[in-house]
This record gives sequence, structure tokens and C-alpha cells, in this order.
Amino acid sequence: MARANGRNSWATPTRAAERDDPAAGAAPRRKILEVRDLAVSFKTYGGTVQAVRGISFDLYEGETLAIVGESGSGKSVTIRAILGILTRNARIVGGEIRYRGRDLTQLLEDEFHDIRGKLISLVFQDPLSALNPIMKIGRQITEALQLSLGMGRVEARDRAIELMRAVAIPEPEKRFDQYPFQFSGGMRQRIVIAIALASDPEILICDEPTTALDVTVQAQILELIAELKTRRNLSVIFITHDLGVVANVADRIAVMYAGRVVETGTADDLFYDARHPYTWALLSSMPDLETREKLFSIPGAPPNMLYPPAGDAFAERNAYALRIDHDQHPPFFRISDTHSAATWLLHPKAPRVERPKVLVERIARIMERRAADELARDE
Ligand SMILES: Nc1ncnc2c1ncn2[C@@H]1O[C@H](COP(=O)(O)OP(=O)(O)O)[C@@H](O)[C@H]1O
Ligand SMILES: [Mg+2]
Repeated sequence: MARANGRNSWATPTRAAERDDPAAGAAPRRKILEVRDLAVSFKTYGGTVQAVRGISFDLYEGETLAIVGESGSGKSVTIRAILGILTRNARIVGGEIRYRGRDLTQLLEDEFHDIRGKLISLVFQDPLSALNPIMKIGRQITEALQLSLGMGRVEARDRAIELMRAVAIPEPEKRFDQYPFQFSGGMRQRIVIAIALASDPEILICDEPTTALDVTVQAQILELIAELKTRRNLSVIFITHDLGVVANVADRIAVMYAGRVVETGTADDLFYDARHPYTWALLSSMPDLETREKLFSIPGAPPNMLYPPAGDAFAERNAYALRIDHDQHPPFFRISDTHSAATWLLHPKAPRVERPKVLVERIARIMERRAADELARDE
């Protein structure tokens, strides 16, 4: 079981085999969502904002895929494209989103009604604005049930209470008749998750669901999502700007920068063997668990997406940038079956560079701790 145990800043990622990783079992993994070369642009007064510039990733049944990147890297735009809720000035300018054999980029609005909020559900970034402040909590869940499943009132009430119990709301019968202001931030986020689960979806997309919460509550919500995933065999896309948050919940991670995926791999690939300098920077800038020190912050700012650079978009901020990084976009280089990264440093002719020292030391410390944990467990 993936456990978010409160050490969510630079926590020790749980081993794939310890989690119920679909790759670890004998059953073949079924791909449930396939995003290929997706590109989304916005028309603005200033020009065309190239928010998402050709990203690809897969989501497998029963896994948690984390999409990680700084604010503005295109995470929410990607999610909105999947759900067909882009703003009017947005256009999908390329690529496909395949779900159950259908390309969602080609669907008409009517056809989305059977999918959005039913088979694919979203937990919003901001739990406060997702709830209606003047409607009783119970009613907000039964409304979702009546709308998506056409349930009657009585049946919906029973089901709503069951869902409240599933997201660990104490005394759900009593809580049913209360208003959002009577709930804490963490409890409200649980209700938003309950609403997203009302239709019994196949895919749950969580867009920064813990950002507004304090560390302890954050860990509880992560644990809840991991539990729900296993119990309901959900596939989860978990969006965050904080790599530390996903250490214990993600099966696989895609790192995004300036509208592109720059590295993808299992949680272990990314935490112990990252190859893209941007991933190094993300890892190095995470607060340290033991010392609480923040070792490094990424200098500079992401590029203006009205004029994205021709080469590796991170080059300007990257101490390891090669000359070619400034004018040619790197392709993906394969590191293993599960791991690849788009950086010229992986080209056979690139000079060998060492990862940042702070990172190497950190990884060594984590490995040590992990070995000690394992010893303690075996005794
Ligand atoms: N409605 C919009 N009009 C113009 N630009 C937008 C709009 N929505 C998002 N963008 C731009 O798209 C880029 C990606 O945004 P977003 O996906 O929200 O980032 P994040 O990774 O923080 O979720 C940003 O540069 C943002 O300014
Ligand atoms: Mg966002």
C-alpha cells in the first residue's frame, strides 16, 4: 500500500513492489488513457500563447500518474483538454487524447456529457470554490448522484452517506445536514472527493488537491486518495507543483516544463536516477525532511509562452546547458523500459556531467535510511 505518512517533504518513496503496482503483478496492464502529441494554444491580445506544446503520456488501469511542474507549465490546461473544458480562446492545435478507443479531442459537447464527471472525474484545485457555501453538504452530494446516475432522493441519500463514510467523514448522518462553513479545509476537500466519486468514475483527476492544506492534512488526503484508488481500482492523475508530495503516491511521474514533458519514469527512476537538469533542480529545491533546509531554489523564471524558445526551454536557467540546448529542441532519449528524458546530455556525444552535489548527497542519505528501515523491518 502506498502510504502518505506525513513525511511528505522529501519522503522516502515506497518501492514499486511494496505498492500494489500493476507492473509488479502478472496481469497485463491495460492502457486506459493515451495522450499523444497534444498541443493547446490560446489566442490572446498579445498573440498566441503556446501553453501545451506536444505532450504524450499514458495512464494505465489502477495506477497513479503524477504530473509535476512549476506553476504555468501547462498542467491544468492539459487536464482541461482531457475533460473538454478549455476556455473559448483555447484551441487544440494538435494531437490526440484516446480514451476507450475514442479521441476526446474530436468529441462534440453532447458526447462529453457521458464522460466528463461520470467516467472521468475531477477534483478541483480549490476545494473552497468547488462547494456551494449556502447548500447543505449532503444535498451537494445527492445532487451529483441524481444528475449523473439519475437516482431518486432516498437512494441518493443512502449513497451519499456511504460516500461520506468512504472518504472518512465522522458521523456522516449528522454531517449530511451541515453547511460547508461547519467543515474544516481537509473535511471540505474530502467532500469534494466524495462528489467526484459519486458517479463511480474510472479515472480520477486531482489538480493540486492538497495545495491549500497544511502538511498533516495534506498527508491524510494523499493517503485517502491512495486507499480509494486501490479499493475502487481507480486510475488517478495527480497534478502538483511539488515533487515531494508525490513521492509516496505516484507509480509513475511525468515532469513538465514550459508546455512539454521533459522526463518520465517510475517514482524510483525519478527520485534516484533523474537525468534532466530540470528534474535535478526540482529535486534539489525540495525542502529536506531532516534538516528542513531548502538547499536550492531554481534561478530565473520560466519562458514567456508567447515566444517559446526554439531549443530546450530550460536552457536559460540551466547551469548544465550545452550550446545545442539553446537552438535545438532535444528528442526523448530512452534510459530504460520505464524511463526516458528529453535532454541533449543523454546524447552519446554529449560531455559527461555530474549531477549536482547536493542531490547526490541527498540520494545517498535516502538510500541509507531506506536500508536502515529495511534492516529494522527484517529483524
Ligand atoms: N485562458 C487562458 N488564456 C490565455 N492563456 C492561458 C489561459 N489559461 C492558461 N493560460 C496559459 O497557459 C499556460 C499554462 O497554464 P496552466 O496549465 O494553468 O499552468 P499550471 O501548470 O500552473 O496548471 C500559462 O502560461 C498560462 O498563462
Ligand atoms: Mg494549475
